[in-house]
Amino acid sequence: MAPRVAVLASGRGSNLQALIDAARGGAPFEIALVVTDRADAFALERAKQSDLPARLVDRRRFAERRALEREIERVLDDADIAWVALAGFMRVLTAAFIATRPDRIVNIHPSLLPAFRGLHTHRRALETGVRITGCTVHVVRPALDDGPIIAQAAVPVLADDDETTLAARVLEREHQIYPLALGLMTSGAGVVDGEQVRLVKPVAEPPQGFIWPKLA
Ligand code: GAR
Repeated sequence: MAPRVAVLASGRGSNLQALIDAARGGAPFEIALVVTDRADAFALERAKQSDLPARLVDRRRFAERRALEREIERVLDDADIAWVALAGFMRVLTAAFIATRPDRIVNIHPSLLPAFRGLHTHRRALETGVRITGCTVHVVRPALDDGPIIAQAAVPVLADDDETTLAARVLEREHQIYPLALGLMTSGAGVVDGEQVRLVKPVAEPPQGFIWPKLA
């Protein structure tokens, strides 16, 4: 049986959609639950349209971060969730939450980490003048947008790019790389070794422009 994944999303949920579509198209994981901390998250609507269970753990009901996390932990345990995929989940998780599923919580971030952690990544990439940016899928550690890198995709910055055009091109790559990177981990091909991800089983070559670990 495919490992059961919960997707945590705070907003529009386009990466959630990419994961749902991939799982239904044969990727080695099942999206078993959607969790959001915001009542207005479009991710809830996507879950409904895909007939998936969804839970709102409303951030407004919890004064402290651990209380909200404990409620999410309960919801994940009730649904027998093995893996967590953050998809635009706009909260920094504590070490206590992360320890509930060691090396089985992953995140996508719209930059080539460790560059541009945090918010406004595309604006900062344009201001800095980098010629290449992209997106990263990584295993979650307690620091913001930090942890062993599973896979990255490169996106060139074009001369006439603004924040909107660059974000759109990166997002297209996010939707492709997230299911592939999550599948590497849930299939057991990728394993965390210290602060690095290594491949321990042969997998297909990555599509052009995508970079992931070589077989150890
Ligand atoms: C995505 O671009 C994702 O990489 C980013 O939020 C967006 C969510 O979009 N995540 C972060 O910045 C995490 N630090 P989506 O809701 O349409 O998937």
